[in-house]
Amino acid sequence: MKRMTRVGLITSGGDCQGLNAAIRGVGKALFERVPNVEIYGMYDGYRGLIECDYKYMQPKDFSGILTQGGTILGTSRQRYIPGKDIVDEDGNSLLPDMMSTYNRLNLDCLVIMGGNGTQKSAKLIADYGMNVVTLPKTIDNDIFGTDTTFGFQSAVNIATNVIDYLHTTASSHGRVFVVELMGRDAGWLTLAAGISSGADVILIPEIPYDIEKVAELIRKRKKSGHGFSIIACAEGAVSKYDKVLSEEEARKKKENSPYPTVSYAIASEIERITGQDTRVTVPGHYQRGGPPCPYDRLLATQFGTAAADLIVNKQYGRMVAIQDGKITSIPLDEAASKTKFLPVDHPIIQVARDIGICMGD
Ligand code: F6P
Repeated sequence: MKRMTRVGLITSGGDCQGLNAAIRGVGKALFERVPNVEIYGMYDGYRGLIECDYKYMQPKDFSGILTQGGTILGTSRQRYIPGKDIVDEDGNSLLPDMMSTYNRLNLDCLVIMGGNGTQKSAKLIADYGMNVVTLPKTIDNDIFGTDTTFGFQSAVNIATNVIDYLHTTASSHGRVFVVELMGRDAGWLTLAAGISSGADVILIPEIPYDIEKVAELIRKRKKSGHGFSIIACAEGAVSKYDKVLSEEEARKKKENSPYPTVSYAIASEIERITGQDTRVTVPGHYQRGGPPCPYDRLLATQFGTAAADLIVNKQYGRMVAIQDGKITSIPLDEAASKTKFLPVDHPIIQVARDIGICMGD
């Protein structure tokens, strides 16, 4: 009898739409293509691998989950020491425990789905001796080596919808709205949703903003008869003054700030400078919730089947990616090496500028 192939599935880090579609894609493609396959779903991300807490998954477990948000396996975050280790609260390495589950289940490979942090920790797991294939997921779209990630498009839809809805109340009251969108490090989501919803100002981490420039645009709009304005602001947006602070100075400033997040600081300054009534809306984790949009269902399914291909061909240590519309894979080393920030000369930023959107500079 042909040898059994054993695969472990893990969803790790912040969740997003399309994780279940990807789990389904991997599972269905493996059962379709590999005659003797056993699949083990690890509960709550790496925790399941560390504690040997898993579910033996049968074909029926991969049905009926395509449209479900979140992850049926659960997820968690672990402490990660950059480039060095994954550790518990006392600083003890968790890699030996992971290896022990891997060996106990006699796994051939782990399929790990995650964002930037997960790609980095998956590399450590691969370096430790486990076979690994990863899938890029995040609403932030900031994983290096892939043009896009599943979750991103669904979040763009939600964020766009939020701003669409705010337009009516903003215009009724003649108010300024600052809408804070997710994106700690990169502005992909804010830029896409901001343009798609007709925001007047878009503030992203990659372009430090000058509050005077933002206020100028709002005043100009008011003068020309537009009593309201919408500012789409990434949670990681930073002013040109704060950008030059040292890490320590920035930390202190944040600690002493009366505002919970950057949007509140912006709203307060805009109100002070322009005298216009200003409100803040933070959709927060709503952006990661609910069913994946059709684009993400398709992408996650494509990524899932590509992961199965890599396993069939024993091509480990790779991340599935999409480049120029083609599904491909790249070495995990490369994917984990850096963050995909939004280039400040990106053509879509130029599009925003071309239609008069203020990018804060
Ligand atoms: O998934 C990435 C992200 O959406 C970031 O944009 C955001 O800062 C972060 O997740 C918050 O996630 P959590 O609250 O789960 O730590």
